[in-house]
Parts: sequence; C-alpha cells; structure tokens
Amino acid sequence: MQGAKRLEAVDAPSFSELFEAKKQYTQKTGQEVIDFSIGSSNIPPHPDLKNALSKAVLDDSVYQYSLSPTPEIVQAIQDWYVKRYGVQLEEDEIFLVKGSQEALSHIPLVFCDPEDIVLIPDPFYPIYGVAPQIAGAKIHYMPLLEENEYLIDFDAIPEEIAKQAKIMYVSYPNNPTGKKAPDSFYERLIDFAKKNEIIVLHDNAYSELVFDEQPGKSFLAFPDAKEVGFELNSFSKSYSMGGARLAVFVGNKECIKLYKKLINTIDFQAFFAVQKAGVEALKLRDEFVPGLRQEYKRRRDFLIDRMKEAGWEITPPEATMFVWAKIPDHYEDSAQFNNDLLKKAGVLANAGTSFGKQGKRYVRFALVRDDEEVREAAKRIKESGILNVNS
Ligand SMILES: Cc1ncc(COP(=O)(O)O)c(C=O)c1O
Repeated sequence: MQGAKRLEAVDAPSFSELFEAKKQYTQKTGQEVIDFSIGSSNIPPHPDLKNALSKAVLDDSVYQYSLSPTPEIVQAIQDWYVKRYGVQLEEDEIFLVKGSQEALSHIPLVFCDPEDIVLIPDPFYPIYGVAPQIAGAKIHYMPLLEENEYLIDFDAIPEEIAKQAKIMYVSYPNNPTGKKAPDSFYERLIDFAKKNEIIVLHDNAYSELVFDEQPGKSFLAFPDAKEVGFELNSFSKSYSMGGARLAVFVGNKECIKLYKKLINTIDFQAFFAVQKAGVEALKLRDEFVPGLRQEYKRRRDFLIDRMKEAGWEITPPEATMFVWAKIPDHYEDSAQFNNDLLKKAGVLANAGTSFGKQGKRYVRFALVRDDEEVREAAKRIKESGILNVNS
C-alpha cells in the first residue's frame, strides 16, 4: 500500500524501538524504566467534576450530535474570561474544540494555501511542525534562544518572510522551555502582526501553571489582539481533563467563522457530557487550580533538588509542567544523551531535538511521576555515570 506524499511530513515516533529498549533495560536489571516522556497529567480532576460527568452520561439528551457549543458553556466561558483574564468575549468570538490539538491540526488547512508561510517557534510543540506541512504550507522557524530568554526575536525574521507569512504560532508559558513572556513581548507581537498582516495563533495551554506571583495572562487581554488573532485555551492541564478532550478557541470572529466553516463540515462538537464537565470545571476553578499549581511547583522543586544532589544542575522553569534540562557538555547532542539516559539509567525523557533543532542540547522531563520515582531516577542517573565526562 502506498500512502499519500503528504504523510511524509509525519515523522511518527517509533514506539516499537522504544518498547524494545525499555524491555531490554528491564531484562538486564529487573527494574522498570521510569517514564517522564509523556505530558499527561497523573493528577485526577476535582471529584465534583467527575461526578458531573458521570451524572451527565446518564442523560439521554447528551447522545444527540452536538452541532454547536451549549448556551451554558458559552456563558461559562464568557464569565471565566472576564473574571480570570479581564477579557470580554462576544458569542461569535467563542468556539469549542476537542482539545487544542484538534485546532492545531486543522488551522493550516483553514488559513493557508499551498506555499504560504507559517512562522513557528523552535523548539515547538510537535503538531506545530506537522500540520502546516500536511496543508502544503511552508515553515519558517523562529529560534527561541536562551540568550533571548527563549522569546521570539522579531528583528531576526527577514522582512520578505514577514511580508509573505500568513500565520504565526506563539505559545507562552512555553512548552518545552518553561518560559513565560512579559507584557512588552505581546505589545511587540501585536505591532508586528499588524504591520505585516499576519494572523497570530496564541496557544495558551499553561496560563494556570505559572509559579511566581504573577498569574499567566490571555493574549486577548492586550490592546488590538482580537484584531490580529485568536487564542486556544485547553482544559487538559488546568483541569486535568486531557483524556476528555476539551479546549476553547477564542478571539477574532472572522478567524472563528472560517474555522467553523471547515470543522462543521467534517465533524461535530465535543460530546455534550464533556461540555457539561467543562462548565463544572470552570465553576470549580478557584477550588482546584491553586492546589494544582502548587503541586506542579512542588514537583518541579523536588525534581530539580534531587537532580542537583545527583550532580546535574538544571535551571528551574518559571511555568508549565515540564523541565527543560541542559545535557552535559561531553555529549554530542540530546538524542545521544537521551539514549544513554534510557539504556544506562532506565530513565525515559524526550530528546530536545524532538521539539526542533534548537533542542539539540536539552532533554525534557514531564512532571508526571511521584516522589519515589523521581528519587529513584536521580539515583540511577548518578550511578550510571552518564553525567561524568568519561562515562
Ligand atoms: C503547548 C501545547 N499545546 C497544546 C497541547 C495539546 O492540548 P490538548 O490536550 O488541549 O489537545 C499541549 C499538550 O501537551 C501543549 O503542550
């Protein structure tokens, strides 16, 4: 069977290779690999949210096709955006998606003609790099460098590229670097987008997981943001609802109208029971989110401290549920280090290069393991000798 050429853009991870490497480690040592590679929360949702969902699935009406977001969830989103972010949203500035991933996969099909340019950061959340290619668009990478605080450097984007670009992906607090962006960055972004007539897609998956005193903002809270773009805000991390698939698409009404045109043709809305759970999640925000944030902050500090004891100094992230750790100098690149991490220490992280070229000297840990596993991982890393020059 011959797949379509567009599938060549999809560089699917080889799970069989990974499975084999994990199996070999277990056969050799009798121990399981400790896996930090998947950013899927192991913190359960609020019990009232689970109750609301289980009650909702007993209601026959939720089994109808969902043609549009319910009035209850639209109202709940409007109230949430005003209270949490200081942003007023009209009904036609709100749409629901089955997780941000749904939107990230389809957005280039909605906005890009073949050969149009999409600006994406590097490192990046993997679907950013795949979806434009499936749509036949071209990508221009914007390096996020440590010396620039991992912010997009607008001056480094060549003028002719900026003029041709159709859409720019921006995401702070940032996965994988764990950095947030100051207000001045968003002001510059909006100016840049206006000047070059670029649509801004702000992927705001981690505004609730900012660890200092300043809560994460919405892109839409900045003047003229709605003129230039929109925001995706996921329930996956903030409400531990990853498997339930729910996110909002909010902002520029023309963008939403165009997105709806495609998606309403090829699919329906989120399951009504999940929409009800979403309303409940927003009701429970003040009860749930501060504890969640505190727990990720505690996990961040615990992991950083254990790694430091093992001899690995890692800069703590300001936000998100990830730790972006620089690899030891004696390693050529992150793929080689990640391989040794798995084979010699039985610890699985993500090679930074799976997020783009700029990830060459990093690996990413997701804060999804309990303390005992983190302690054990640090011990194994130390004992494996991979942090030492002559390993
Ligand atoms: C930056 C970023 N965007 C989007 C997503 C996907 O979120 P969702 O579960 O809403 O599809 C993730 C998940 O890890 C993410 O890190």
